Amino acid sequence: MAEDEYPYVAGVDTSTQSCKVVIVDPATGTVVRQGRAAHPGGTEVDPEAWWSAFLTAVGQAGGLADVHALAVGGQQHGMVCLDAAGRVIRPALLWNDTRSGGAARDLIAEHDDAGGTAWWVDATGSAPVASLTVTKLRWLAEHERDNAARIAAVALPHDWLSWRISGSTDIRDLWTDRSEASGTGYLAREGNKDPRRPEYRRDILASALYIRQSDAEKIILPRVAEPWEICSHGDPARGWAHVALGPGAGDNAASALGMNLTPGEAMLSLGTSGVVAAVSAHSVMDPTGAVTGFADASGNWLPMATTLNASRITDAMRNILGVSYEEYSNLALSVPDAGGLTLLPYFEGERTPNLPDATASMSGMTLSNSDPAHVARAGVEGLLTLMAGALAAVERVTGPIDRVSLLGGGAKLEAVRRLAPNMLHHRVEIAPDGEYVALGAARQAERAWQARA
Ligand code: XUL
Repeated sequence: MAEDEYPYVAGVDTSTQSCKVVIVDPATGTVVRQGRAAHPGGTEVDPEAWWSAFLTAVGQAGGLADVHALAVGGQQHGMVCLDAAGRVIRPALLWNDTRSGGAARDLIAEHDDAGGTAWWVDATGSAPVASLTVTKLRWLAEHERDNAARIAAVALPHDWLSWRISGSTDIRDLWTDRSEASGTGYLAREGNKDPRRPEYRRDILASALYIRQSDAEKIILPRVAEPWEICSHGDPARGWAHVALGPGAGDNAASALGMNLTPGEAMLSLGTSGVVAAVSAHSVMDPTGAVTGFADASGNWLPMATTLNASRITDAMRNILGVSYEEYSNLALSVPDAGGLTLLPYFEGERTPNLPDATASMSGMTLSNSDPAHVARAGVEGLLTLMAGALAAVERVTGPIDRVSLLGGGAKLEAVRRLAPNMLHHRVEIAPDGEYVALGAARQAERAWQARA
């Protein structure tokens, strides 16, 4: 293939809120074009909406005519159930849908005799929380038995979108990568030890769905690709046959690639979720389950603590106060502290700590702190205290972290930037603005392209 005809690579970020496409010149790393389209709100979404957002974003980015490789980074977990004809059975449940909190508790309790949470961490690297796909499958088996009975394949959001880009409608063609498979709750941790041989735990899938293991064996789970593999090509019917498709990755793993995250460094991303993640050359286990033992996209691991609440804490507090971002930040910085006000910011329930049914609350109100400035300060401190807990949890399993790179929309707030070093007790660097998930996906696509046989 003449590389000068197709000089670029494409990186896609199919995230909770939108789809972003960047077209990158791999020789320089420069973004030459980009596009973006919104996803619908809510925690239950018809995957068709991701497809149309992708088409809009790719159109805005000037198409794929000059692109030789593409990969998709995407919101992790979630549940996309397909029938034997490759049709979506019901709207996807997203990582931030907490209806399966009870299912998570049940799945742990079913292994109480063998250690409960510790059993799961040993078996899969992570304890089930409402975000993980395995809990959503249990919820489906309990609440929508007919839908559960029609499942022929289970994919994650990025697996499904990559497959659609390939134009296949055959569920046997689905693929995923280690970072995503390790976030399902049914990939064996032993598999994680050898990146070349990840294995699904069909016994766990069977018990989640209340089916026999022999029936669980028949369900198609996406093949787990190697880190730098060309997995397929774009849909010839759309003129994309020249576009090699990389494995893709979960958004956090793609972001780590996009940032070139190195051991000893943590990324703290404030998006819809709050994520603290650090690259580790070894599989780590947190028997408490607070830190998930996910894989990264390069053959290493990405121990991670994730909060359900992050940027939207700021949105909620701004709503209460009726102020802009800038006013909110200025208010928070106009007082030396919150004057005894404390915000427990569990607006969407919480995952770290694991409190899926919790709600937010403000305590310590007195006449002297009941004003917009102290309320704003408590909002920013509440967010950073939540993230400090996540960072401490990750550091407990990875060993010392010497610097934290702050990124994501929530990190644009001046008050967050100024208060972070003290509240996180670490050296904090602000990562330059960038679409790290999409850039990481583009980087993966190029590396897979270079490594092609
Ligand atoms: C990670 C997680 C979130 C989503 C957000 O475990 O659930 O960070 O990946 O897109």
